[in-house]
Amino acid sequence: MMRTPTVVRAEGLPERVTIYEVGPRDGLQNESGLVPTAVKAEFVQRLLAAGLPIVEATSFVHPKWVPQLADAADLMTLLGETGRDLPVLVPNDRGLDRALELGCRHIAIFGSATETFAQRNLNRGLDEQFAMFEPTVRRAREAGLDVRAYVSMCFGDPWEGAVPVEQVVEVGKRLFDLGASQLSLGDTTGVGTAGHVTSLVRAFGDAGMGTDRLAMHFHDTYGQALANTYAALRAGITTYDASAGGLGGCPYAESATGNLATEDLVWMLHGLGIETGVDLEQVVSTSVWMAAQLGRPSPSAVVRALGGTVGPGTAESGA
Ligand code: HMG
Ligand code: MG
Repeated sequence: MMRTPTVVRAEGLPERVTIYEVGPRDGLQNESGLVPTAVKAEFVQRLLAAGLPIVEATSFVHPKWVPQLADAADLMTLLGETGRDLPVLVPNDRGLDRALELGCRHIAIFGSATETFAQRNLNRGLDEQFAMFEPTVRRAREAGLDVRAYVSMCFGDPWEGAVPVEQVVEVGKRLFDLGASQLSLGDTTGVGTAGHVTSLVRAFGDAGMGTDRLAMHFHDTYGQALANTYAALRAGITTYDASAGGLGGCPYAESATGNLATEDLVWMLHGLGIETGVDLEQVVSTSVWMAAQLGRPSPSAVVRALGGTVGPGTAESGA
């Protein structure tokens, strides 16, 4: 059984890519059952042990809006010093207060490219969202925190349909102007296709926001996530969000299913000779273990292909 792809480099692609793991946050926020805090902490630890350089841990959002992550403070306490370097989602001042109390050093705000999703996800209009973020980002920066900003619905919106590229660029620019260091362009419901990715990245570049400050956040709802990643690689993007085992979705966008699976991404990148620092087998065994915790198999093609060969392992061995 082949456990690694044959490496053949393709022209014009980056040498190295940073994978920004969102499984514990984007993955688990959408689970119907409650996952015990200790299981979440083990999930995070195992992903770090597998070489994932950034693991987004949880969200300091309203616990009624996302009950699955209501244990954010307990999780961060359990993770201790390790947790302080992991990014957490923060939508507003109240979320920032909670994150600061726990010593968090990296936060991510999450804006919407469309009016309807801003209303549904943030209870704010498209313009109002910036008024909510402004004091939060300012205070976070003053406290020395790093601020990432997501933009959702960059490639289409289930309520509004097509989303003009210029509208996404405008929202992205306003988030950078607030003080974000990196923008993650989200295909929240996975409807985007490769040419659209190329044109969006180009439009950001034309507006002075280069690939060094952009990340891509693909969901695999329509099976396009890897094709879209390849287009983004060709356009020069070197940071990709992914979720171990393909867990995830967004509770406020019904048609959002799992994120691009970390394992599927790693298989493609390693086959292309692109370094990630990630140990594929350890991520697969983590997802096999997590699938057992959740009581259903992982939707990731690579986890299905390799899962039988690696076993769930343990937190200590990670293999
Ligand atoms: P709101 O109800 O408008 O809040 O919610 P508010 O400002 O009117 O405050 C109402 C009450 O909530 C107050 O309490 C606040 O203290 C409290 P009261 O004074 O009435 O007792 N409150 C909070 N409590 C705890 N933590 C907080 C907080 N904020 C207010 N942070 C809010 C506005 C933004 C809070 C709400 O809409 C919310 O929590 N939304 C989060 C939704 C969410 O987490 N969605 C999923 C993440 S986004 C995503 O998945 C997309 C992404 O992956 C990229 C992609 O795929 O596109 C990132
Ligand atoms: Mg997402």
